[in-house]
Amino acid sequence: MIKLQEQAIEVLNNNWTGSFSIPCANLYPFQWKWDSGFIAIGFAHFDMPKAEKEISTLLDAQWENGFIPHIVFHTENDSYFPGASFHRSDLHPLASKKYKSTGMVQPPVTGFVLEEMYKVSNNKEASLKYIASVIDKVYFNHEYFYKNRDPQNEGLVYIYHNWESGTDNSPIWDDIFETMDSPDYTFERRDTTHVDAAQRPSKREYDHYLHIIEIAKEHNYSDEKIAELSPFLVQDPLFNTMLIKSNESLIALYKLIGGNNDKIEQLEKWQEKSKKSFNNKLYDEELGAYIHYDLRNEKPLRHVSSSSFSPLFAGIPSNERAQKMVTVMMDKFGNENQYLCASFDPTSNRFNPKKYWRGPVWINLNWILYNGLKAYGFKDIAARVKQDTIDMIEKNGFYEYFDSRKEMHTDGKAGYGGNHFSWSAALLIDMLKN
Ligand code: SER
Repeated sequence: MIKLQEQAIEVLNNNWTGSFSIPCANLYPFQWKWDSGFIAIGFAHFDMPKAEKEISTLLDAQWENGFIPHIVFHTENDSYFPGASFHRSDLHPLASKKYKSTGMVQPPVTGFVLEEMYKVSNNKEASLKYIASVIDKVYFNHEYFYKNRDPQNEGLVYIYHNWESGTDNSPIWDDIFETMDSPDYTFERRDTTHVDAAQRPSKREYDHYLHIIEIAKEHNYSDEKIAELSPFLVQDPLFNTMLIKSNESLIALYKLIGGNNDKIEQLEKWQEKSKKSFNNKLYDEELGAYIHYDLRNEKPLRHVSSSSFSPLFAGIPSNERAQKMVTVMMDKFGNENQYLCASFDPTSNRFNPKKYWRGPVWINLNWILYNGLKAYGFKDIAARVKQDTIDMIEKNGFYEYFDSRKEMHTDGKAGYGGNHFSWSAALLIDMLKN
């Protein structure tokens, strides 16, 4: 274990640029929002200044309306498509003037990341001082979501692009892409020059991804216009779980800092409303799991994915519901031939254990589920998630994602996507210490 931990530290140090971390070389050469958060949790265990700098750099790219972008393009680099010149964040009047970025977001992990950093810190006073210097930016980001991403005032925020979900090419989005008539664009992919195309989204999927952005760009990334016109408008259980968990952390941290009663009160209001709507709207009794809701076409997307169980992480389900969910998870995802936890329902005909978010196991989701399961007292299953995570990394290396089928893990070739991947290293460090 000591050796694995040292290797993880080496991965993180190698991906550190001096002010932020790349997720991995070539494939992802910039700063990604949720990656940065998970990476900071890893650094917090052995190099707190880097963890703090990682977050500060991300927050420095915040827009004047509170928006924090999904990618910050710190450097010119043509090993990635689509880059800054495609996204054109400058179209939005309140975009950062200092950094080029995308015009979309990623799951709001920063709030709970700050709390994790505080928990790990062995100098609580210094850590709280750091947190006090940045926490208002995170609060402002949550305010952006509730003000601009909740048109029906439900306490549930929408995402307007699959890249905002973080689970880029989940089979869940197939239902939405079917409703779209995207052009057949001509463009040069870069991801498939770094990674086997069988492990990445298809050309047709990229057409849809670009099409949604073109529509947003036509309206200068106006939130109002996006809410009105984007063909992709989804209430995502994973995304909303991240927001709710981060709300909870901001409340706890503001209480430690002292004062800020107006913000605490506001956060508590959001929290109550969000959790209530989440349970009423996103839970599917028949499936025994939380699901996505297609707000554009006003219909539930009835598929079970690893995101379906993520609400355990934010204390959203009742104990009874949690029990039901865990039974479903073990029935569908947890038989002895599978590593926990596949990103998509292994019993579905859309399941593909090699292709990005259509089936493989991801370490960040395992970390979320591990912590959620533990919090609800499912100790044995939590322990299995942890052990499966260690096994997959030990056998294959610090890959971006892993084949969920155990039979594939015989020759060290069941890790896919990028190698030396930062959050796989960061979250392994946290799980080993936890
Ligand atoms: N993960 C995306 C990609 O593959 C962007 O967030 O490019």
